[in-house]
Amino acid sequence: MIIAIDGPAASGKGTLAKRLASHFGLPHLDTGLLYRAVARALLDFDHPLTDEKAAVRAAQALDRVHLDESRLRGREMGEAASVVAAIPAVRSALVDWQRAFARRPEGAVLDGRDIGTVICPDADVKIFVTATPEERARRRFRELAGRGEDVTLDAVLDDIRKRDARDSGRSTAPLVAAADARLLDTTTLDIEQAFKAAVAFVDGAGRDGAKAKS
Ligand code: DC
Repeated sequence: MIIAIDGPAASGKGTLAKRLASHFGLPHLDTGLLYRAVARALLDFDHPLTDEKAAVRAAQALDRVHLDESRLRGREMGEAASVVAAIPAVRSALVDWQRAFARRPEGAVLDGRDIGTVICPDADVKIFVTATPEERARRRFRELAGRGEDVTLDAVLDDIRKRDARDSGRSTAPLVAAADARLLDTTTLDIEQAFKAAVAFVDGAGRDGAKAKS
């Protein structure tokens, strides 16, 4: 079973994907980390984030070891990842890696921006997770402040708005819900409520799939 989770920054999709993966006993890939690792490689070698050749080289050289660092989760890297993710050649360089992960025999949970639309258009379940920008900013602010980052709520809201505009406005694989995705608005839900709703979507998709086959 392949579960595709998409949504904007700080919508709760990562936490949800992790919980679903552990509930259904599936491996999980946070695809945002791939773009964050490409951005980090460019920043570490003082390349501009728009240097396409260097970005593609970094994307081709990625392996799992590169995805483990806590620095990848910081505010600076989210912003930078959104810039490199708008380069079509970088996206192409990462497609096979993500599809290979999804094609494991037991299935997988992937979360990102284009999983249901581009990476796994045939996923068994697609969930598009949203929340208002203000609520997402509050969540991201709490997370960053909890990790000791020196940020203000206003700055985080500003980042979120910029990232939404960039991720939704790019020409290749923009952030958009797949036509057959279930929408999950988590603005007024806590993680437990969001998780239960997502499990219900997955269980429902299983029943629908079984009905369609019988
Ligand atoms: O999910 P995240 O915040 O870690 O993602 C960081 C950036 O990476 C995001 O702003 C856009 C990009 N991204 C993408 O374009 N496609 C994905 N599948 C995942 C992330």
